[in-house]
Amino acid sequence: MHKVYIKTFGCQMNEYDSERMAGILSGAGYTITQDEHDADYIIVNTCSVRQHAEERAISFIGAASKKHKVIVAGCMAQRLQDDIIKRFPGVKAVVGTFNFAKIAEIIKEEKRRVYAGEEQTDVFNIRPKKEGEIRGFTTVMQGCDNFCSYCIVPYVRGRERSRDKDSILEELGEMGKMGYKEVMLLGQNVNSYFDRKNSVNFSGLLREAVKVDGIKRIKFMTSHPKDLSDELIETVAAEPKLARHFHLPLQSGSDRVLKLMNRKYTAGHFMGRVEKIRELIPGCSITTDILVGFSGEEDADFLQTVQMAEKIKFDAAYIFKYSVRKGTAGEKMEDSVNEKVKLERLNNILELQKKISENMASANIGREMDAIICAPGRADRGLLEAVTDTNKTVLIPAGSGKIGDTVRVRVTGARRVMLEGEVI
Ligand code: SAH
Ligand code: SF4
Ligand code: F3S
Repeated sequence: MHKVYIKTFGCQMNEYDSERMAGILSGAGYTITQDEHDADYIIVNTCSVRQHAEERAISFIGAASKKHKVIVAGCMAQRLQDDIIKRFPGVKAVVGTFNFAKIAEIIKEEKRRVYAGEEQTDVFNIRPKKEGEIRGFTTVMQGCDNFCSYCIVPYVRGRERSRDKDSILEELGEMGKMGYKEVMLLGQNVNSYFDRKNSVNFSGLLREAVKVDGIKRIKFMTSHPKDLSDELIETVAAEPKLARHFHLPLQSGSDRVLKLMNRKYTAGHFMGRVEKIRELIPGCSITTDILVGFSGEEDADFLQTVQMAEKIKFDAAYIFKYSVRKGTAGEKMEDSVNEKVKLERLNNILELQKKISENMASANIGREMDAIICAPGRADRGLLEAVTDTNKTVLIPAGSGKIGDTVRVRVTGARRVMLEGEVI
């Protein structure tokens, strides 16, 4: 039987797509192996979001395609298409983000070619087959209509498409039966989810999703700050099964830079959303993305970002250094911040955020919260890892329960951003 190894770069949506490809292929009689060297085929599911992400994928493809039959999928496949075929003789197919539903046929095809046309099948209805997992994810909408000027995603993932509510609920139901306890709903911008057929928005979807048997907690990302509605915040406040967590990317604290980025909100609007979340959902965690060194960002703009981060105190932030992406509006702007300044700003805010994240973790000491036990401790086998309803990891003594149990935990300490606790 042919063996396939899948290497995934990029975000959770790519991980979910890889799971679905694995599901399709195992259904067609292929074995999914965890050992790259033992594989007959290697599928590389790629990311295009930053230059660095592409470079990593390219070097992996270069090495793998010397020894194996390689299929390149994902966002970089969608972007570069034929260039990949030309550059790597060992690559036998390039499969865009709309076309992997046919992966079982594509893998057999001898002729080297690109598959990057229109969506062929409702790939949403292909479910991953995975047993024994506690935490999983599923896509509720994909694509993006926002066109932030730095971002490649709208070009590689296409326009926003929301998935049918019934298809999502059916998948959640199956996951519940399989033993999943926590599910993350994914979308480039979940706030603009809208199921036209049933006239259901994202809050409506969540209110139905919490009723699914077996699933104890639901999370979602990403929320775009410009259309994070009061209704959504109120829904999270009202439904105990919804995690008390928002991932709300700030990108910049300067109105001038936000405008250049085409983010369509101001720093003041962002602050207002944070205040509303904290007013209605005490203890809610808020995480963010910050992009430093965007074209036109001056010291004064960067300082405003730093001040926002100090004022808001995010529980965690993913901080990135801008890299120009071909084909975006940003490509036409002068990449005005030199590399040295970009790096200085990056390190500066990384250091600040590290302290804030640690303080935010320590602030939990003494608090009680629900946590789902999800894995044995990675570093210490005498411990179990559990995940709190604010999306933090808490380490509890082994023997406090079994994997999949929900336990009430009192936080007793913090190790950097991880919490330590005991079951009460
Ligand atoms: N849909 C999400 C995030 C998509 S990409 C949102 O709207 O926020 C994830 C993060 O990568 C972005 O939030 C941004 O901070 C970063 N990013 C996107 N394009 C980038 C680029 N050209 N260079 C560096 N970072 C980038
Ligand atoms: Fe990219 Fe902006 Fe869309 Fe997020 S909202 S995926 S950053 S274009
Ligand atoms: Fe995700 Fe990267 Fe594509 S962040 S949507 S895999 S460009």
